[in-house]
Amino acid sequence: MGEMKRIGILTSGGDCAGLNAIIRAVVCRAAGGYGWKVMGIRQATQGLMSDPPQIMTLEPDKVDHLLTMGGTILGTTNKGDPFAFPMPDGTVRDRSEDIIAGYRQLGLDAIIGIGGDGSLAILRRIAQQGDLNLVAIPKTIDNDIGITENSIGFDTAVNIATEALDRLHFTAASHSRVMILEVMGRDAGHIAISAGIAGGADVVLIPEIAYTLENVCQQIQERQSQGKNYCLIVVSEAVCTPDGETVTNTNALGQCRLGGIGEHLADQISACIGAETRVTVLGHTQRGGIPSPLDRLTASAFGVAAVELIAEGLYDRMVTWQNRQVVSVPIAEAISYYRAVDPNGTLVKTARGLGICLGD
Ligand code: F6P
Repeated sequence: MGEMKRIGILTSGGDCAGLNAIIRAVVCRAAGGYGWKVMGIRQATQGLMSDPPQIMTLEPDKVDHLLTMGGTILGTTNKGDPFAFPMPDGTVRDRSEDIIAGYRQLGLDAIIGIGGDGSLAILRRIAQQGDLNLVAIPKTIDNDIGITENSIGFDTAVNIATEALDRLHFTAASHSRVMILEVMGRDAGHIAISAGIAGGADVVLIPEIAYTLENVCQQIQERQSQGKNYCLIVVSEAVCTPDGETVTNTNALGQCRLGGIGEHLADQISACIGAETRVTVLGHTQRGGIPSPLDRLTASAFGVAAVELIAEGLYDRMVTWQNRQVVSVPIAEAISYYRAVDPNGTLVKTARGLGICLGD
């Protein structure tokens, strides 16, 4: 069975469907297979910063239900950079050494960090600083971590956006309306273009391709001239206005978030051609709920592969999905390669071939 190890696992950054399925797979392989002790770190690195560290012991007979459960039982955060951590008195402090101390206090041999590129960059910096044994697993509904074909959460988000289009289709046709679906994805239009193709959208606007209002309105009118009285538009949250402005909103806590391009577009279309428009903003529904079978499968494969890396003593590496299998790459390489939608790639060509207007 080999040497007994103690490993930690944490989820960091925005949640998504499939995180719990990863936790389950790690526990099955590490605790169930190798007989190691697995400690779940609560609330990302904040659990390690606390003294004593905030953890939950994860055992194989208690994780079966995690395969289909959304969110993360460990909790997570996409705020509070540990290198400039906001303190209650309003100051910021570098808490990286507290995290390293937490790792040592728990007697960990290695830690599995699940995150997007931002979280993984922070985790890696801490691991380098404290000589910690880190293995990374990519997750993000945005699917913008360049080196892996699949990030956990993306497929579920596409399923949810596609289902929304399927539903909007009928109500759009019934009322002869232009229906706009605003989806997440930050600076990458992967969710929008994937769901747009799968859900039969007529217009897909993504941050990678600049659009004009005239082109969008022309598509609507062309459809009308063919007797098609409605139009389905998918717009990605970071699409700029034709003036080049990103649409955001700021809440009472002063947090600025992407959102609102759908409403902006609706107003512009109505003003331009008098079409009746309605907007649906999917928001965090794209991150919640039951993970799709593909996300469960990828999560399971990534979880097992991450444990095998630790068993082989291979650290500072991220598991990735490439050419139908899981391989590992250096974390530094993985996070240095950002993947936006390729304007000349297969999905864009497919969309154009189907007659979907991309706004350009
Ligand atoms: O990065 C994942 C993501 O869901 C983005 O698509 C979105 O812009 C952002 O996080 C939302 O963040 P928050 O949960 O802080 O509102």
